[in-house]
Amino acid sequence: MIQVAPSILSADFAHLGKAVADVCAAGADLIHVDVMDGHFVPNITFGPMVVKAIKPYATVPLDVHLMMTNPQDYLCDFVDAGANQITLHAEVEQDLVPMLQYLRSRGVKTGLSLRPRTPASILENYLPYLDLVLVMTVEPGFGGQEFLITQLPKIALIHGMIDPSKTLIQVDGGINDKSAPLCIENGASTLIAGSYIFGAPDWAKAIETLRRVND
Ligand code: DX5
Ligand code: ZN
Repeated sequence: MIQVAPSILSADFAHLGKAVADVCAAGADLIHVDVMDGHFVPNITFGPMVVKAIKPYATVPLDVHLMMTNPQDYLCDFVDAGANQITLHAEVEQDLVPMLQYLRSRGVKTGLSLRPRTPASILENYLPYLDLVLVMTVEPGFGGQEFLITQLPKIALIHGMIDPSKTLIQVDGGINDKSAPLCIENGASTLIAGSYIFGAPDWAKAIETLRRVND
């Protein structure tokens, strides 16, 4: 079962509530929320207050991707704001296991994301604590970048490490109708897409195209 998670990084920020409601109605399985702090990545987006503001418009779970140097300081705020699953970056220097345990204790699904240069082996100590692994298929920070084909072997490697009934593999960055089948063939099951969906004239058609890309 392929899940499609539109990234609201490519939505119209002036009408974010409507964008969330409309993309849910168009068939989104999750709403992907890219939190950027201007430090872990060079861009700045939104924080817990925006997550809380869009929550009433979402009829599917909020999937929050924290591209932050110090996620620990904000986890409680994101959970209180209504995040249903939270993905941390494996490269942060804070202690990840207590954060992952905290999220589970609050009933939130846990994820760990790897930048393109971070090897799959970093996951070894964390797999029991993870509901998902997010493989970045661009350098994090901006939407609309070109898919990095170099990440496909890493997706396959991670697929071999996980129990697919317990841990899902998400891919994020440059996902479109050409790159999605390659990701799925290598073991991805959740496709995160920003510009491909929000840049399309018909969001429902774009979502359905991604979901059926390997049929
Ligand atoms: C990039 C973000 C992505 C971004 C993907 O750092 O994590 O979620 O929205 O955008 P596209 O699909 O346009 O590459
Ligand atoms: Zn993301």
